[in-house]
Amino acid sequence: MKITTFSELTIDGCMTLGHGLSSKALFDFYGAELRQWFHGERAAHDAIMVGAGTVRADNPELTVRHVIGRNPLRVIPTNDGNIPAGSHILSDGLPTLFAVPQTLPHAVRDRLTAHLGVSLMDCGETVVDLKEVAKRLSARGVGSLMVEGGSRLLHGLFAAGLVNRIVIKHIPVISGAVDAPTYLAAYAGSLGMALSRWQVVDWRLIGGIGVSIYEPLKGTPE
Ligand SMILES: NC(=O)c1ccc[n+]([C@@H]2O[C@H](COP(=O)([O-])OP(=O)(O)OC[C@H]3O[C@@H](n4cnc5c(N)ncnc54)[C@H](OP(=O)(O)O)[C@@H]3O)[C@@H](O)[C@H]2O)c1
Repeated sequence: MKITTFSELTIDGCMTLGHGLSSKALFDFYGAELRQWFHGERAAHDAIMVGAGTVRADNPELTVRHVIGRNPLRVIPTNDGNIPAGSHILSDGLPTLFAVPQTLPHAVRDRLTAHLGVSLMDCGETVVDLKEVAKRLSARGVGSLMVEGGSRLLHGLFAAGLVNRIVIKHIPVISGAVDAPTYLAAYAGSLGMALSRWQVVDWRLIGGIGVSIYEPLKGTPE
């Protein structure tokens, strides 16, 4: 399965305009052309993933709009199942697959699966094992996974060596926030990938926004 991350970054390298804020503020700088391209990318992937932190902060829909296309399967890793009941991904009736640890309590499982379209996939004992998630999704026929963040999930995917391609949308504003998350926020545990080399394989200007696409430099570890 090919895993591609898609992120918006400000000029000063931030994922949002401040700690705890929604990244949706950055969407306001998108024009119609970038929106259509981005939603076309969603339609071109079999599955789409964000971390539970992004669900809580942004309440994303993770569906294909602005172009005609098939919705990718929504996959959300969560260790504790703390997903607000009013979240779009729980309430719109479309398929959502939560990757959860085996220890997730029955009451939490029941609360999540009471929503139409929701199913669970056990991956890992006490915390979600992202390698196991990738293995199980591949076994279900998912050939391409689009990951839209946030930083904590991205950190976990890079730490597990699971990222094949990086897409960065360069939003031409300065966040100015000293506490905003960066692409790979520094969480406990080293990534073990200092100076890992990536090459730009494509670069485009889409509706005035620069989009760069990276893949690992051949012959170097990811
Ligand atoms: N600019 C952008 O491109 C962009 C994109 C997306 C989000 N964002 C912003 O990023 C912020 C949210 O990011 P975040 O870092 O706080 O949260 P996140 O990465 O979206 O989600 C982290 C959560 O994912 C779950 N998880 C389960 N297994 C995991 C694993 N093995 N590794 C990592 N996470 C795992 C955990 O959920 P539980 O806590 O439920 O156990 C964890 O707390 C928001 O402000 C959002 O607006 C920006």
